[in-house]
Order: sequence, then C-alpha cells, then structure tokens
Amino acid sequence: MKKKAVQFEYEVYPSVKSLEKEDIILLEKARVVTETAYAPYSDFQVGAVALLANGEIVQGSNQENASYPVGLCAERVLLSAISSIYFNTQIKTIAISYHNLNGKSNRPISPCGICRQTLLEYEMRQKHPIRLIMGGMDGKVFVIPNAGMLLPLSFTGDDLK
Ligand code: THU
Repeated sequence: MKKKAVQFEYEVYPSVKSLEKEDIILLEKARVVTETAYAPYSDFQVGAVALLANGEIVQGSNQENASYPVGLCAERVLLSAISSIYFNTQIKTIAISYHNLNGKSNRPISPCGICRQTLLEYEMRQKHPIRLIMGGMDGKVFVIPNAGMLLPLSFTGDDLK
C-alpha cells in the first residue's frame, strides 16, 4: 500500500487593489456583470469574465429557472458562449465574482463541482491552463494558476478510450 497526497498552491491577496492591473480590470468587470444574472430564486448573482488570447473580454452570469436544476452557473454560461463565438481561441484568465442579495459578498467563492469538470475539459481542449481569479464585491482575492487543480483525480475523456 502506498499513500499519496494531493496539494496545490494558490495566491491570496488582501483586496482587489493588490492585483496586477489586467487582473483588477477583469475582477471589477466580473463584479459589474453580476448585475446581468437572472437569479430570482437564489438571489445569488454570479458574474464571470474571461480574457482570451486575442485580447477579447467575454462575460457570463448565472441563469436560473423555476425548475431549479435547469439553471446554469455563470462559469458554464461563459464557457459555452466562448466555445460558440470564439471557437479555437484560448482562454487565459477567468475572474469570478458574486453579489449575495441576502447577505455578504466579502469572501471568494470557487466554482461548483460541475463547473470544475467543465473548466477542466476546456483546459484539456485548449491545451493551456486557465487562471482563475476569485473574489466577492470586496475582501480577499484568490488566484489559482490552473482550474484543473480544483479537481484532483478527475474523470476525463481519456478514461473513455
Ligand atoms: N452559482 C454560480 O453561478 N457559480 C458558482 O460558482 C456557484 C453557484 C450559481 C448557481 C445558482 O444560480 C446560484 O449561484 C446559487 O447556487
């Protein structure tokens, strides 16, 4: 029997102000994009913004439905839009923010399990890591160098071969 450990490093910044200028722009845009969420059931508005290799910035927000499981997270709305509109253009960085209408929005949230799986597959497709910047409306900011780190021992297309 062998024991193995999984660990990863990420950066923690005290606030958006401590980030590089390009990252500040992305996270601040993600904060604004929360306003486009359709989240009447959870009142939890999420904004995700991607910087592409061609310099374009693309946005997505969560879209809910009265039939709750039909709803889509901001991250998957964003990835689907990029895949459809900017086919074959690499994603460099994604910033994620949220506005909790019933509470505080002062700590980072990280993508749910389904979004982690979707992000991982996108990274594999584009053969390039996707950096994640995660922060609320204020407070600390986390930066993760590649989204796949959030899903160790993952299931991928290789397993289907
Ligand atoms: N949500 C996202 O859009 N992204 C996340 O990373 C976490 C959760 C959405 C799904 C749902 O519309 C609402 O937030 C509450 O879970």
